[in-house]
Amino acid sequence: MTNDDQRFFKNLREEYRAPQLIAADLNDDPLLQFDQWFQEAVNFPCPQANAMALATADRNGVPSLRMVLLKDVDADGFTFYTNYGSNKGQQIQENPVAALMFYWHELHRQVRIEGSVAKVPREVSGSYFRTRPFMSRIGALASRQSREIADRETLRERCETLAKEYDGKDVPLPEDWGGYLLRPEKIEFWQGQENRLHDRIVYVREDNRWKKQRLSP
Ligand SMILES: Cc1cc2nc3c(=O)[nH]c(=O)nc-3n(C[C@H](O)[C@H](O)[C@H](O)COP(=O)(O)O)c2cc1C
Repeated sequence: MTNDDQRFFKNLREEYRAPQLIAADLNDDPLLQFDQWFQEAVNFPCPQANAMALATADRNGVPSLRMVLLKDVDADGFTFYTNYGSNKGQQIQENPVAALMFYWHELHRQVRIEGSVAKVPREVSGSYFRTRPFMSRIGALASRQSREIADRETLRERCETLAKEYDGKDVPLPEDWGGYLLRPEKIEFWQGQENRLHDRIVYVREDNRWKKQRLSP
């Protein structure tokens, strides 16, 4: 690294100022606490507040990370949709645990979630799939996500053929496409504070109850 590079990174330094996070003020249920922060992020607005990083690992523990969109959250956990044959789908099959991370920069907030992952019932995937625009449904049918494809043209032609085939009809839910539910075992709420003395409150599930703790920044 050159001195210029060091100056460049130094100038990127940001101070965070926000109301303090007091463990006692946070909801005893981290999913309700998440709901509150998520609504605040949507309303602020933080762009694409439902975009989250999803980490998975293969059977040897080799990690892999990508963005996906949160499509539902309830008492059971966090739902996202993808191709079951994709790289992430294969890793989840081999090793059904994952981590999620939201970063809402405008609010200096991060939420980290860890837990087990399972496919949602097929009828749940079906009812979500039907809400997607026609061409997004066609795209899901056309794309063998994460597998090599010769060129963009091949994909475009496949979409065109399928769009003609299903014009005016129901696009079927692809066999290899659907939702996953991450059932959280651990959820951490991070609030950026001055002088890097950030607030971190973590909830850990123990015997089906949530234990709340403050962590050092
Ligand atoms: C903001 C954003 C949102 C995304 N949302 C999704 C999503 O909801 N589902 C999905 O399968 N891929 C989504 N992607 C694409 C993934 O990041 C990734 O490229 C794709 O799922 C293949 O990942 P894999 O090869 O690790 O399985 C999104 C990408 C970005 C940048």
